[in-house]
Amino acid sequence: MTSRPILACAAWPYANGPRHIGHVSGFGLPCDMFARYQRMCGNPVLMVSGTDEHGTPIQVQADAEGVTARELADRYNRVIAQDLHGLDMSYDLFTRTTTRNHYAVVQDLFLGLYANGYIFARKSLGAVSPSTGRTLPDRYIEGTCPICGFDGARGDQCDNCGNQLDPIDLINPRSKINGETPAFVETEQFFLDLPAFADALGTWLQSKSGQWRPNVLKFSLNLLADLQPRAITRDLDWGVPIPLDDWRDLPDKRIYVWFDAVIGYLSASIEWARRSGDPDAWRAWWQTPEAESYYFMGKDNIVFHAEIWPAMLLGYNGKGARGGTPGSLGALDLPAEVVSSEFLKMEGRKFSSSRQVVIYVRDFLERYDVDALRYYVAVAGPESQDTDFTWSEFVRRTNDELVANWGNLVNRTVSFAARNIGEIPAAGDLTDGDRALLERSSAAFATVGESLGRCRFKAASTEVMRTLAEANKYLSDEAPWKLRESDPARMRTISHVALQLVDDGKTLLTPFLPRSSQQVFEMLGGNGIWSGMPRIDEVDEDGGPAYPVITGDYRSAAARWESAPIRPGTPLAAPAPLFAKLDPSVVDEELARLAGA
Ligand code: MF3
Ligand code: ZN
Repeated sequence: MTSRPILACAAWPYANGPRHIGHVSGFGLPCDMFARYQRMCGNPVLMVSGTDEHGTPIQVQADAEGVTARELADRYNRVIAQDLHGLDMSYDLFTRTTTRNHYAVVQDLFLGLYANGYIFARKSLGAVSPSTGRTLPDRYIEGTCPICGFDGARGDQCDNCGNQLDPIDLINPRSKINGETPAFVETEQFFLDLPAFADALGTWLQSKSGQWRPNVLKFSLNLLADLQPRAITRDLDWGVPIPLDDWRDLPDKRIYVWFDAVIGYLSASIEWARRSGDPDAWRAWWQTPEAESYYFMGKDNIVFHAEIWPAMLLGYNGKGARGGTPGSLGALDLPAEVVSSEFLKMEGRKFSSSRQVVIYVRDFLERYDVDALRYYVAVAGPESQDTDFTWSEFVRRTNDELVANWGNLVNRTVSFAARNIGEIPAAGDLTDGDRALLERSSAAFATVGESLGRCRFKAASTEVMRTLAEANKYLSDEAPWKLRESDPARMRTISHVALQLVDDGKTLLTPFLPRSSQQVFEMLGGNGIWSGMPRIDEVDEDGGPAYPVITGDYRSAAARWESAPIRPGTPLAAPAPLFAKLDPSVVDEELARLAGA
């Protein structure tokens, strides 16, 4: 396939606390695996995200910590950037929604939609907290769903039946913050005219059939049955001001956090282009017919990525029922795929920071290998159904699969060759078995690549592990250590074949395990960067306050998605183990940490 620009979009984490592994298993790690694979295929990739810093989630947490929303956002923007950097997430730019650039792009999108007639003002009833007088954001109101009767429905959405709701629709509404019954007062807000996009969204979604994960497509199509105008402003003082005369100076009217956050993918692309010295470079990923954009998130975000964001793009392009002309940036591409995962639970329970049913990324990385987590998420993550993270399963996957299969193959193959030959040997005559195995290994690039290109991480990683198990079996069956005296030529051939399988294995595993793949690359004589690693830079906007961004130079990395012949004569040294084998006592220790809280 010819190369095409790939935009890899990871959902923007709220800057309201450190990330735990439930968060990153949905939006983060899958996006990074996909982006790394695409780069290895030679496609120009732009991977963007940042912290989501407006809205109630931030205000509620700021109140709880006794700081301002801005102080809170500043603090957790930094913490989260470090969490994600620690996971080797290869963002081209991980920024934040409180930049001037983001504000300008959000306002431009608002104005484009407004000019085309897709945004209008209307009076409606909004919820306020009687005790504080403050607006109660939708997601902090809970009650009974008027459609399905589920008692834990939120003001914005019912997670049981998936319908979008208004807080006023809820039966027996109550504040999740303090349990009180909200008061509803009249207020004027702007609305996005979602019904005007019913046809265009339907056509667009239908065209995705057979490509998207079936549950995501089905959920998205269901949303079309009941499209209502959606409020995109709030009575709040924390957010992007409304860019219209009579509105922009109102201290208590702001653009709704979700309207601003989804625009982050675009504003981050524009910020990246500016920082890279070519301000128009973002257009290759947003305005080129062959470009493809992939959005990664947890399932509670589908509405915003498969309905509201595409509607915003259609309206900006002038492609809704009311027509119109593209806004000042020009027409923008719709998502190629909304890749949503299901939820990860923790030992059978919902992750909860407040109840300490949680393991934070930072704590995890202090105790375990980053690649052990990445492997677990790939092979046992919540890709198409809710799944449970358990410590015993983590220990089992790490020891029995990562260490016993891959780590062991690398270790025995490389140390045998290092000790007995001292370098990569040339192959003599190959047997049919040798050839079949080498072909099997190089054929894995097509099968695993096909799965990775379709975001089937479980199938992809499982297939690699199967190939590696065969390589281990080959080594045990051929037992080159028995041939040292009797048939050194055959011993060298076997060692060559096994080293080639190790080399292929590290390439196939690179999207999942970039750090240990770099180590294997070096073990086999590679120099320089195999798989690019992110770094944190301190940046600012025209001398404004400094903030951290995750970025990196991934283009100069050597990794290519293909089997490359190893080079006989390359010196080999005895390898250090790739991964730490975990003591079974880890399970009890970690469970005690959970239960002991
Ligand atoms: N902050 C949201 C959440 O954690 C995700 C925002 S994704 C974006 O659920 F696209 F809107 F940025
Ligand atoms: Zn419901």
